[in-house]
Amino acid sequence: MPHPAERRLVFRHIDEPGYTPDLPCYLRHGGYEALRKSVARKPEELVDEVKKSGLRGRGGAGFPCGVKWSLLDRRSGKPVYLIANADESEPGTFKDRYIIHQDPHQLIEGIMISCWANQVKQAYIYIRGEFSQGARILEQAIAEARAQRLVGPDILGTGYSCEIYVHRGAGAYICGEETGLIESLEGKRPYPRIKPPYFPAVLGLYQCPTIVNNVETLCHVKHIADMGGEAFAKIGTLNNTGTRLLCVSGHVRRPGYYEVESGKITLGQLLNDLCGGPPPGRKFKAVIPGGSSSKILRFGERFKIRQQDGSTTDWGVEDIPMDFDSLAACGSMGGSGGLIVMDDSTDMVAALANLNAFYAHESCGQCTPCREGSLWMKKITARMVHGDARPQDGELLKSVADQIAGRTVCPFGEACAWPTQSFVLKFGDEFKGGADARKHPSAAGPALV
Ligand SMILES: Cc1cc2nc3c(=O)[nH]c(=O)nc-3n(C[C@H](O)[C@H](O)[C@H](O)COP(=O)(O)O)c2cc1C
Repeated sequence: MPHPAERRLVFRHIDEPGYTPDLPCYLRHGGYEALRKSVARKPEELVDEVKKSGLRGRGGAGFPCGVKWSLLDRRSGKPVYLIANADESEPGTFKDRYIIHQDPHQLIEGIMISCWANQVKQAYIYIRGEFSQGARILEQAIAEARAQRLVGPDILGTGYSCEIYVHRGAGAYICGEETGLIESLEGKRPYPRIKPPYFPAVLGLYQCPTIVNNVETLCHVKHIADMGGEAFAKIGTLNNTGTRLLCVSGHVRRPGYYEVESGKITLGQLLNDLCGGPPPGRKFKAVIPGGSSSKILRFGERFKIRQQDGSTTDWGVEDIPMDFDSLAACGSMGGSGGLIVMDDSTDMVAALANLNAFYAHESCGQCTPCREGSLWMKKITARMVHGDARPQDGELLKSVADQIAGRTVCPFGEACAWPTQSFVLKFGDEFKGGADARKHPSAAGPALV
């Protein structure tokens, strides 16, 4: 059951008793009506609706969707492609999977509306390799939709044709990065491309203009087409419109997913009211607010934020509104909406060692600072966990991270450096090496290499 403080749009039917992922059920609930309305309108009107809606991408960066669409370079006359990014690889994030499993037609309708708006004739859903059940569900749903002329040739008798193909990745975090994803879709090793010149809107899939949008973003497009851009913009707050799917894991009593109006609830309300607070007898210590790459927030730290009217507000972590801009103003980010919560029993060195093991494993190896640096961060935190830290290790760890961020082809560099930089900055006492190093109780953590 949704919490009363939630506002469900994309997740309206998720977990609803009797709601099944097949086409008849979707049609009974008003499915594909937004597509029917959309194909009766001019494509550019829909692009305008999405611009008016203020929708920002839900895959991580929060880039305005309508702006992204209007950057498509059509001068060459090459075909335009659309890719739904269903890689969902950011640790702590598990929203797209629920959409795919329980409401796949919502995504397909969002894709078809976006394709009509941008006159795309071929779309792909790039789904991570581990989501084999999700891939099967999508293939089945596309087949059902094709049989009813909702996908494929002559959509709804309009003469407009558009195919959707499901492409399975092989399970690599870097394939979520849009240019790595495009390389992988082309059948190559997923080394991210340099921007410029390889902005997908200009030189994307097969060197053609390409839209890459997150699964949740494309679902919001369906609701924008349904209710209109202005109505959507009234949900949430001025620069952070609509609802947001938030995935909460870790030390809360009710972990799971929640859909809330952007910026209308604070981090404290989310964690205490919706998620039931910390486990009995515990206090919150820290939270990673937007997927594992976002900078950690320490309970107890305070932020002086300058408001638009010139006044200053003093926020604790609990007071931060859950939206892109407020989290950015506090030095972190809304990212992919995956919150990882840690209570006062958490060993921050062990937690960072875990993250660093992940990033070292997932670095694609194209750029030296990331390939070498991520491995060094893993090694240093692993020896801290095992109580073998050297006197200078705290400093060394920070300096390695500082030399990765900003020096790589793609934002994986920042993604792997930010956790280390923020953990060491905010929990410095736990990262002392040498004589002060303690034997960590979790010495069974990542193996020392
Ligand atoms: C290392 C890395 C991993 C990423 N993983 C994902 C992912 O799993 N899913 C996703 O939608 N976006 C991911 N992104 C963001 C994409 O590059 C891209 O910005 C996004 O798909 C655009 O969609 P949006 O505008 O709808 O947010 C990742 C970015 C980076 C740097």
